[in-house]
Amino acid sequence: MARDFTSVGVVGLGTMGAGIVEVFARNGVDVVAVEVSAGALERGRAILTASVDRAVARGKLADTERDALLGRVRFEVGLDALHSVDLAIEAVPEHLDLKQRIFAELDRVCRPEAVLATNTSSLSVTEISVATSRPHQVIGIHFFNPAPVMKLVEVVRTVVTSADVVADVEALCSRLGKVDVTISDRAGFIANALLFGYLNHAVGMFEAHYATREDIDAAMKLGCGLPMGPLALMDLIGLDTAYEILDTMYRRGGRDRRHAPVPLIKQMVTAGLLGRKSGRGFYTYERPGSPVVVPDERTPVATQAAVGDGARATAKIGIVGSGTMATGIIEVFAKAGYEVVSVTRGAEKSARVFEAVRTSLNKGVVRGKLSEADRDAALGRINWSATLEHLADVDLVVEAVVEELSVKKALFASLDEICKPGVVLATTTSSLPVIDVAMATQRPADVIGLHFFNPAPVMPLVEVVETIRTSAETTATARAVCAALGKTGVVCGDRSGFIVNALLFPYLNDAVKMLEASYSTADDIDHAMKLGCGYPMGPFELLDVVGLDVSLAIQRELYLELREPGFAPAPLLEHLVTAGYLGRKSGRGFRDHTRR
Ligand SMILES: NC(=O)c1ccc[n+]([C@@H]2O[C@H](COP(=O)([O-])OP(=O)(O)OC[C@H]3O[C@@H](n4cnc5c(N)ncnc54)[C@H](O)[C@@H]3O)[C@@H](O)[C@H]2O)c1
Repeated sequence: MARDFTSVGVVGLGTMGAGIVEVFARNGVDVVAVEVSAGALERGRAILTASVDRAVARGKLADTERDALLGRVRFEVGLDALHSVDLAIEAVPEHLDLKQRIFAELDRVCRPEAVLATNTSSLSVTEISVATSRPHQVIGIHFFNPAPVMKLVEVVRTVVTSADVVADVEALCSRLGKVDVTISDRAGFIANALLFGYLNHAVGMFEAHYATREDIDAAMKLGCGLPMGPLALMDLIGLDTAYEILDTMYRRGGRDRRHAPVPLIKQMVTAGLLGRKSGRGFYTYERPGSPVVVPDERTPVATQAAVGDGARATAKIGIVGSGTMATGIIEVFAKAGYEVVSVTRGAEKSARVFEAVRTSLNKGVVRGKLSEADRDAALGRINWSATLEHLADVDLVVEAVVEELSVKKALFASLDEICKPGVVLATTTSSLPVIDVAMATQRPADVIGLHFFNPAPVMPLVEVVETIRTSAETTATARAVCAALGKTGVVCGDRSGFIVNALLFPYLNDAVKMLEASYSTADDIDHAMKLGCGYPMGPFELLDVVGLDVSLAIQRELYLELREPGFAPAPLLEHLVTAGYLGRKSGRGFRDHTRR
């Protein structure tokens, strides 16, 4: 029989503590909520009340439930109030000495059989536990932010945590409606170990003016289906907390430079820009604690105005290529009302592309998203050709041929001869430097990257890749075209992986390394990222969909360009590719897809 935790103490009522109080009180557990001062206690009470009121306003909680919930919480200053709880959870700032002091105090105050838990994200639970005389009753219970919403709890067992304490806490998690993964004591556990390198990298991109905050966040939301962009997430976590987590992970986790906090984070913390909780971080909020972003001096002027800025008129579009991307892009432009000239390497390929576009448009008709007349009009706008000369009078060329630099360079040299002046020449490359392609022409200022995502008709994102030679008009034209296609164009520099792949693939690679180190299982890692961070797919699910060979190639490119030791491809990934386990397409990758 699992122990019944009927009374729980929560220490520290900040971002996490207040949420943890709510989780317990919602599930009928009495809570003693403790802070360091009367002022901090009132702030904690206000966070809890505001969250519960939001739940009532959204119809997720009845008035009576609200009152019962709040009635279960007793607010007190000082740890002495925790003398009779069955379980105490600490959620104070991420400093080892502070946590150790609190645990020594909890050990003195709490009943001998009480379990003592820490919500630390990155500190060693073992080091915290040795500040008590009962390390076997100390455990990590790592909730995710916002605690009432996120389903995951990481249960962290040290080498001395007793098995029944682990079992009791696991049972408690399911009573709270949470899904737990039990792991050993390692910096960042599962989710943060995979998340924080990515967050830090995103801040680094922002600091280097590689892209705007809006574009970095939009790229990850629209390109990967994440619930929030990395900079908005930093604001939610709190920059002070994020700094401490990164710093600890850097020191504990083998001094991986990717965890060394980007200097900007420390500067923002020093300046009091802590994120939502202080009303300002990467974004500005209505007031401290509010989730509502308000415009500030960094907010881009209305898209239309920016787009109109020097954009050239485009009506006729040339698209070169006959693969998956070219086919999708032809459909996107034709559907948006552009006149399209498709150039392939022969009538047979053109016929195949035509069939594919027609089939895809027909699906739209069947789903009621497109009328038959609109389908026919879209197909009627496409001219099929096998000679580049037909691109003499187009306004924009989008190249989507094979991912080989020599082929692309030769093509751009030809386009340079054929196309009229002022045409924007775009490449859809996902891994080659756009500048190499641009320099194959005599007009590098007109060359830009338009990185569509697969499937192009569905994915709302386009990365607009500027080289150091790209002109402002070319960028403005590319952005205007994205807007006219109903897509979000995010502008970024010409570096390996642009925004999305540069932030996504190292994370996937890290997940493979974590599996390789036997820290956790593929299932638990997938669970952790889906339920703890709201990702639509876990890393292993995604790797199997993308293809392990494709992922390895992208990771290699990133490594070769940036020479970041942490980006070196995981040996396990290399071995799986060598063994022909490429993911869904070959029937087996991290999982066996033939038996499902
Ligand atoms: N923010 C996140 O997204 C997140 C997610 C999971 C876990 N965590 C972890 O949760 C813990 C708390 O982080 P946070 O973001 O909630 O921090 P926070 O700064 O928002 O809140 C910390 C609270 O602890 C209080 N406090 C400080 N000293 C105290 C003491 N001696 N006694 C009682 N209360 C005291 C502070 O007044 C403050 O209200 C950290 O260990 C952090 O790593 C954070």
